[in-house]
Amino acid sequence: MKECIGIFDSGVGGLTIYNEIRNILPDENIIYLGDYKYNPYGNLTTEKLLDRCKKIISWFIKQNAKLVVMACNTASTNIISEMRDCFDIPIIGVEPSIKPAALSTKTNNIGVLATKGTIYSPKFNQAKEIFTKNINVIEVIGEGIVSAIENGKLHDKETFELLKKYITPMLNSNVDVIVLGCTHYTYLIPILKKIVPKSIKIMDNKMAIAKQTKKVLEEKKLLATNKGSTKFYTTSTKNKMKLFINSKIAVVLCNL
Ligand code: DGL
Repeated sequence: MKECIGIFDSGVGGLTIYNEIRNILPDENIIYLGDYKYNPYGNLTTEKLLDRCKKIISWFIKQNAKLVVMACNTASTNIISEMRDCFDIPIIGVEPSIKPAALSTKTNNIGVLATKGTIYSPKFNQAKEIFTKNINVIEVIGEGIVSAIENGKLHDKETFELLKKYITPMLNSNVDVIVLGCTHYTYLIPILKKIVPKSIKIMDNKMAIAKQTKKVLEEKKLLATNKGSTKFYTTSTKNKMKLFINSKIAVVLCNL
């Protein structure tokens, strides 16, 4: 198997990052894995996250991965340091954009929508401590959103109402920035735009992660030079991943 980049998430959230990486790195071979056996990751224990991510990254390395992107805030904010200690290849993670949000707010109120795992994670809380000393952070756990997205219910009225419920306390606190701290939540942007005034900035970090991936590959002289291809894998057949990619493309079951 040719050298490749491994990208993974609990499901389709990481595809938002995959799409950006594919856009700016067309020559790379990419393997995308949705870990549906353990989806959602948001309420998993740290031990389980460690176990899953170790298994997945080891598998990527067997597939000849030269770099891995943990396209999941929950996993990255809890265990990326352990993964970097375990493996020799570069590992890129995703964290809620707390610093850019803190630099951008004028009202000194920012909202963060993320999974429970991310809200309680060491990395998220360290970032908050460093960058939001004089800023009011309204954190909301987006319980149920990942499964609504995974089950094709993104545009349902129930999802709209759920999101409205989560965003209302932020609006009541006069936030001018909302950070989407879960890669799945990028899919919510068109719906969020119907709920929040135009003046509120909605931030995710998919572009930043793609640029960081390119930068690391350049620095390590690992950039590919021929047209790349993508393979999609899942750890369970119980998923609707094909709704999010070209449905003619195979999603291969991988026993992890
Ligand atoms: N998309 C992931 C994240 O960024 C995981 C969400 C989940 O599975 O709960 O946190």
